[in-house]
Amino acid sequence: APEDLLFSYKGILYPAGFCNPKTIQVLDSFEARTDDVILAGYPKNGTNWLDQVLNDLETTAAKYTEEEINERINITNELSIFPRLEFGDPEKFKRMKELPFRRIITTHLLPQVLPKSIFKSKAKILLLVRNPKDTAVSYFHFHNNMPTLPSFGSWDEYFAAFMHGKICRGSYFDYLVEWNKHVADENVMAITYEELKENLMLGLKKIADFFGFSLSEEEIQTVAEKSSFKAMKEKSSKTHGTFGKILFRKGMVGDWKNHFSEAQSKEMDRKFEECLAGTKLGEKMKY
Ligand code: PPS
Repeated sequence: APEDLLFSYKGILYPAGFCNPKTIQVLDSFEARTDDVILAGYPKNGTNWLDQVLNDLETTAAKYTEEEINERINITNELSIFPRLEFGDPEKFKRMKELPFRRIITTHLLPQVLPKSIFKSKAKILLLVRNPKDTAVSYFHFHNNMPTLPSFGSWDEYFAAFMHGKICRGSYFDYLVEWNKHVADENVMAITYEELKENLMLGLKKIADFFGFSLSEEEIQTVAEKSSFKAMKEKSSKTHGTFGKILFRKGMVGDWKNHFSEAQSKEMDRKFEECLAGTKLGEKMKY
């Protein structure tokens, strides 16, 4: 039944197909390391894109061999670090402790739900944000194409649910408001989907600087080429299996114009203003 696709924990809906409620309950047993690379983003902000980017930057900077890269991928897949910190079974936290390499950890969690050790350890967090209109559109198609998520009968019905946070992972606006409380922290850097689309090289340099990945211009260029939408879509069946077909949809800025009515666009602008006007994150995200 559709109501079985999601479960609620402390007021937030999680996808039962990916998240084990026991894992969510024991998130605090996860022990962060100071050198952990944390990628935080609401669903559909481009997590899979930056997950690949971060892994490529790290394995290039740390001079991994092809064999070591494959081993790393196998281990992280098995432990469900990919796809997300909150996926998989709680036992994985014990095994993650023993990983002999710098860990790249992605998550859709709200900051107040993240394991406390992440903030205590001062591990660096890259916060990935996206224009809420495009995030909403991307998430609409994802809900309707993923068998493990409830689908919506119409765009209008979905739009109302998105605006009220009655969707998997809760309100994107709440997410932004909560993360905005952390964007001035020295261990947090926000980056937008739009700035990465506009100038990926520049974005990758900022990211490499922030995490201390030491790479040449050429090495960064190679990472950029491998992470274009086209390149990632082309090899998605290998990297993401059948999920790849659903995930790599359009990869563009502004698809919202094909979905929003004038009134919906204004309503979202108002909501965005209400939640973020004049804030650091609001300024950064201005669209
Ligand atoms: S998930 O399932 O929540 O983790 O989804 P997430 O990866 O965060 O977001 C999926 C959207 O990111 C787009 N995408 C990309 N855009 C640009 N370049 C690259 N390389 C790239 N890879 C993925 C993907 O197409 C989804 O956006 P939409 O608008 O639906 O196309």
